[in-house]
Amino acid sequence: MKKTMKLKTLLFHAVVCIYAVPSAVAQVSPLPHLSREGAVTQLIVEGKPFLMLGGELHNSSSSSLDYMQPIWPRLAAMHVNVVLTPVSWELIEPQEGKFDFTLVDGLIQQARGHDLHIIFLWFGSWKNGVSTYVPAWVKADSARFPRARDEAGRPLEILSTFGAASRDADAHAFAALMRHIREVDGQNHTVLMMQVENEVGVLGESRDRSPIGNEAFSKAVPPELMDYLQKHKDALIPEFRKMWEDAGGKTSGTWEQIFGPGKPKGMAIPVRTLSPPLTPEEHETAWRSLHWPVDEIFMAWQYARYVNQVTHAGKVEYNIPMYVNAWLQQRDHAWPGTYPSGGPLPQVLDVWHAGAPALDMLSPDLYVQEFDELCARYTRSGNALFIPESAGDARGAANVFAAFGQYAAIGYSPFGIENPSTAAPEGPMAKAYEFLSQLSPFILAHQQKGTIAGVALDKDHSNKKVQLGNYTLNVSFARSWGTTQNPDYAAAIILATGDGEYLIAGKGVSISFSCDRPDCPATGLASVEEGTFVGGLWAPGRRLNGDEIMSGNGLRLAGENHSIQKVKLYQYR
Ligand code: DGJ
Repeated sequence: MKKTMKLKTLLFHAVVCIYAVPSAVAQVSPLPHLSREGAVTQLIVEGKPFLMLGGELHNSSSSSLDYMQPIWPRLAAMHVNVVLTPVSWELIEPQEGKFDFTLVDGLIQQARGHDLHIIFLWFGSWKNGVSTYVPAWVKADSARFPRARDEAGRPLEILSTFGAASRDADAHAFAALMRHIREVDGQNHTVLMMQVENEVGVLGESRDRSPIGNEAFSKAVPPELMDYLQKHKDALIPEFRKMWEDAGGKTSGTWEQIFGPGKPKGMAIPVRTLSPPLTPEEHETAWRSLHWPVDEIFMAWQYARYVNQVTHAGKVEYNIPMYVNAWLQQRDHAWPGTYPSGGPLPQVLDVWHAGAPALDMLSPDLYVQEFDELCARYTRSGNALFIPESAGDARGAANVFAAFGQYAAIGYSPFGIENPSTAAPEGPMAKAYEFLSQLSPFILAHQQKGTIAGVALDKDHSNKKVQLGNYTLNVSFARSWGTTQNPDYAAAIILATGDGEYLIAGKGVSISFSCDRPDCPATGLASVEEGTFVGGLWAPGRRLNGDEIMSGNGLRLAGENHSIQKVKLYQYR
């Protein structure tokens, strides 16, 4: 009976939350939501797909509305359309049970004043692994809100995932925040999505070794997780499945019986995994292998369960898309504990999917050089790609093309967007966003159809091949006329607009075409036209031939500025 009541209440909230609750007017408008068609997921805002040209503020900027005042117009001018801004537990609930949403309201008002959207980052129990954003009344009461501990029993400045009171208090605050956002923004939809916590996971240890953590670690793996793994066995992330099978592929037992031994007793965790003491080879390779996987899997499950409850509590109040972000394993952070152990990393996506079904996405903070590799790893298992943090320099301005074109990302967001160099009106990010905002409707339409590709080049990846339509496109650097050096970065988005017809938009690339089909013995360029989109319509410019098409060998989008070309291919014998 009790269960039925609970279910009814949840269903009621779910129905209410699909639509915003209007105040006086009986008009309802659909909330921002994710829509999945085939393999592609898109963010829908006011009934239409929306491509997020985002930017994340520095951690402390949005704690002062005065400080923010001059930042908004600069972001709007650089064609950012959504700003990722922290909202912290300590500032909205300074005293237990007493909420203050002045800052939240002010940020929403300021964003609206510049026609910008917001993604709020909930700095609740954890921010970069640690718990510095929890209110003072939580910090002061470690009996009620216990800390994770290292092997020596020392407390870490990290709330333990085993603290039920911490989880409930966080969920309570997050629910209050979401209720408030629904009340003030349920009709306007300035707020598009929520990030729940920030880069969770244990730092400084491979797992929480508090007495309650150790006890849980000695027990059987919960049946919910084992059932999920068995049910999805064929679709599991390959490195995860291998890890499980290498440990014997058991379906019941303790964590170590199922996933093998954890970090050896007494072994100190290096703060970073710098080279030296590692050899350069170890430094290059260690970050791609999994170390003490059981510790990371165990923590991933605990964080996923905790975050799921916080997310669920928020969604019951206001059901907009919610995601968690990950601090990635990387060269200088190769062992769990040097990066937050248990975060939503690519090797444990399945554990997060099993433990946190309330979340819509698992998102990488993608600063590493291996941009394509990580995008590919995060788009497995149907996970939609959103990149909440990344570079905002020339490299970022190139990678955003690959994200939208090759991985159907719903959004991209450089960190520290208000930095003078990142936000500079003539800077690489502003120029890329201005260009992409012109192309957004076409990118979205082609993402839906799967007729899009994207490429970013740098000095370590100076040519790439992409398959699109019936052709292979060979993309490499194009030097500006009269120069002898490649640009540092280059990028293109390629839309297949018909059989042998492409629209290519980018900078610094040359592109040749090849076809392996027997009916296309030799491929030539029938015509190449440069142009722009004005009010969504193609406005042709120069007809390109001769040097500009490398005497028929391919396209050149060279020079300082982005450009767009349309090409038709033909076959000859
Ligand atoms: C990742 C974090 O998520 C951000 O909040 C910020 O601290 C950046 N790192 C700084 O590089």
